[in-house]
Amino acid sequence: MAKKGGSEFVCQNCGAVYPKWQGKCDSCGEWNSIVEEQVGGEGFSNLTPKKKGRILEFVPLSGSQEALTRLVTGIKELDRVCGGGLVPGSAILVGGDPGIGKSTLLLQTCASIANQTGDHECYYISGEEAIDQVRIRAKRLQLEKSPVKLTSATNVKDIITTLEASQAAVVIIDSIQTMYLEEVESTPGSVTQVRACAYELIKLAKKKGFTLFLVGHVTKQGSIAGPRVLEHMVDTVLYFEGERGHHFRILRAVKNRYGATDEIGVFEMQDQGLVEVENPSALFLAERQGNISGSCVFAGIEGSRPVLVEIQALVSPTGYASPKRAVVGWDSNRLAMVLAVLEARCGMNLSSQDVYLNIAGGLKISEPAADLAVAMAVISSLTNKPLPADAVIFGEIGLSGEIRAVSQPNARLKEAYKLGFHSAITPPTHSKEKKHNLDINTYEIGNVQRLINWFN
Ligand code: TYD
Ligand code: MG
Repeated sequence: MAKKGGSEFVCQNCGAVYPKWQGKCDSCGEWNSIVEEQVGGEGFSNLTPKKKGRILEFVPLSGSQEALTRLVTGIKELDRVCGGGLVPGSAILVGGDPGIGKSTLLLQTCASIANQTGDHECYYISGEEAIDQVRIRAKRLQLEKSPVKLTSATNVKDIITTLEASQAAVVIIDSIQTMYLEEVESTPGSVTQVRACAYELIKLAKKKGFTLFLVGHVTKQGSIAGPRVLEHMVDTVLYFEGERGHHFRILRAVKNRYGATDEIGVFEMQDQGLVEVENPSALFLAERQGNISGSCVFAGIEGSRPVLVEIQALVSPTGYASPKRAVVGWDSNRLAMVLAVLEARCGMNLSSQDVYLNIAGGLKISEPAADLAVAMAVISSLTNKPLPADAVIFGEIGLSGEIRAVSQPNARLKEAYKLGFHSAITPPTHSKEKKHNLDINTYEIGNVQRLINWFN
């Protein structure tokens, strides 16, 4: 570590520190991301104490602990993603592409809490937009009457002094990349600044017991700009995602010390701001056309909630030497694997075909449980035979072509039944699992070879 007052070279992508400049970061592999930064700043100057430490006290794992009281925001999708409401004293990082709706979501959250009875002071500190701009947005969202305390500031010292004297319940910093501490000599947005500012703000949040939201920008590669260290410092990391051109927005918890991760909240961006979507399956299936080859409905699980989505495949003869595979919303390696299994185990010839795969509605699926639905969509497109319109599909495919059980089959079937589906193509049920008692015809398939029968 460089001495205080000296300089060090910090990767702006991952936060790795080097004693001298180099073109490529060894830690994250990024080129040209290493920048010289001055060392210093209050945030980290106390890392080399001169005094000897005191002896720590150890306690048993069991014992009394303070009950976790959560502040319910009133925006149900956000509350669920946070694990049932905001935990006082916690820090939440909200990342997402520019223009996706982070400021809108947080202004709505702030106003929703401020409007509640119970006298919660809510502070919205904008470092990016002038007061007028935020006011215009508030007017558009019809929130201008909410007792939110709004200011435009970037100096963290001022912010801390102000908050010290307040009774804040919720503080929103939009965005952490615009904040700076005078003591730190690097420019706002650099790793050192972002880290030092976040450290000071999080320390204050813990001390005063308010919930701190930090907005963070996302780089081209999709991680929160600059420091991944920021993700380690906060209690919860939320990503706000959505496809351009789609009005759905998905709030995803990727880290949560106070709740489950991989929980999603679904919103729709409308003229008057973000509207919660209580039944995402209906929304994702809204534009589905029945009786089309290459399309099927996958019954997935996102966090604790079953979600039905349409999977579309298009298989067409290739005009290239190596066939094209294009995937939107799923893992392209996983598609390659499914195609390889279909070729090797079912004797299908896909090497002369281009394959396009799309998850309709802009949702990103990471579950292997979608394998079977993808395989069926591909076969349906190749044979030009539509799948039954009232069927949902789920199941994982193994390399030897076997179809494996996935988690929570009954929750998936229940959601399908609720949305009017009457049949399901699933992996074989094991004897120890409880069979559902829904009015759904389930076709259990144990191996991909048997899939072909569906299309004959
Ligand atoms: P914004 O919250 O400023 O995004 P971020 O803070 O993530 O950069 O959202 C801006 C986009 O949202 C902008 O393109 C306009 C759109 N929008 C609506 O469609 N309806 C609305 O009511 C609002 C406030 C914004
Ligand atoms: Mg913004």
